[in-house]
Amino acid sequence: MKIAIVGAGSGYLPGVIRGLLHRAADLAGTEIACHDTDAAHLEVMARLARRMFAARGADLTVTVHPELKPALDGASYIFTTFRPGGLAARHLDESIPLRHGVVGQETAGPGGLLMALRSVPVLLDIAEHAGDAWIVNYTNPTNIVTDAVARYSGARVLGLCDQNIGDTEMWAELLGLPFDRLEADWIGLNHATWAERLRLDGAELDLPALLAGLEVPGGGATPWRDPARMAELAKALGFLPNSYAKYYFFHDEVVEELRAKGTTRAEDVLAMLPAYYAQVEAESRKDDPDPSRERGGGEHGEFAVDTICAIERDERRRMIVNVRNNGAVSSLEPDAIVEVPALVGRSGAVPLTMGALPRAVRGLTQAIHEYEVLAADAAATGDRRLALQALMAHPFVRSKHTAERILDEGLAAHRDHLPQFR
Ligand code: G6P
Ligand code: MN
Repeated sequence: MKIAIVGAGSGYLPGVIRGLLHRAADLAGTEIACHDTDAAHLEVMARLARRMFAARGADLTVTVHPELKPALDGASYIFTTFRPGGLAARHLDESIPLRHGVVGQETAGPGGLLMALRSVPVLLDIAEHAGDAWIVNYTNPTNIVTDAVARYSGARVLGLCDQNIGDTEMWAELLGLPFDRLEADWIGLNHATWAERLRLDGAELDLPALLAGLEVPGGGATPWRDPARMAELAKALGFLPNSYAKYYFFHDEVVEELRAKGTTRAEDVLAMLPAYYAQVEAESRKDDPDPSRERGGGEHGEFAVDTICAIERDERRRMIVNVRNNGAVSSLEPDAIVEVPALVGRSGAVPLTMGALPRAVRGLTQAIHEYEVLAADAAATGDRRLALQALMAHPFVRSKHTAERILDEGLAAHRDHLPQFR
């Protein structure tokens, strides 16, 4: 079997390699075909993978492909994990909206729209050469990308995000419950999911009662977690919000904070990357490398590899993925790409029936969905008017003039990555 990795020079690769190692027995004999546009990073990560596989006696071979098409050729799975335009483009996604008083975020809001406009053409090109392969996609915004690939190509695609795992872990800590025995029904849209049901060892917990007793913790936010705001929000809602909910329910405060902070998340990541890659490069020359876990050190890699194994081995494993709704969430149209628990096996992901979204966030989630469909259509067609409508439909924006300013600046700034708008 062959698994192609598009974006194999990514800083997240050490985690992916660890994920492959953790399923090495199930993947014995597999070729890992690595492609990236950054030749230096590609070389480092390929060497790291080879050394780590050899050190653990894993029967996995690594091939390196500076060109995309040979990497895809004959692959059963195409794992996509790249940022079109890199972190420099992400900086623009985060800073342009902020100049106009709107949260600058790489996946939610206008920043996410700009990223979708860059990601979708690349994914559609990959889809064209995918043949029968499954595209297992991490490239953001994963739901919009998944929707565009599903509607504008014949390729088979599954959208991933490991946020549900990290968020369940955060709630386990906040509620003082053992993470490894918890299961939450996160439903909605990627980075806009909600959980009304939480089980411990399979038994339903009384979530409203748990939340009523929850004390809002002190302390500030990290790049990934904002427990104080999450707790405050959950107590108001009576169910669990995902981490990105803060951008919707604390929008104006977050704008102030982002402005006061002075640097974007992209700039912060860019600043740490040289030391990070130096560490990984040094490890890649050792016999038994132990690369840094600073990027994608959590569940990211394992989750992706587990998904591939679930399809390949027809495991019908319950995983939270982005998939065509087909009635799983009654509050969203059947064609919507939703993020829900699904059984993942040979025929892909079969979403489990989850019922309605809680009323307090139903309208919000439906509005985000309409934005996402417009965003996918704009990204696939290069229709500026659809892109403008997408921004006007987004709950962060609404104002036509603000939408126009952000879009004009965004299209100009990202010109080189937007062939469909030329
Ligand atoms: C979470 C999200 C991902 C996103 C990442 C960014 O994991 O689920 O979709 O790409 O955060 O993390 P970073 O460290 O680059 O800010
Ligand atoms: Mn995500």
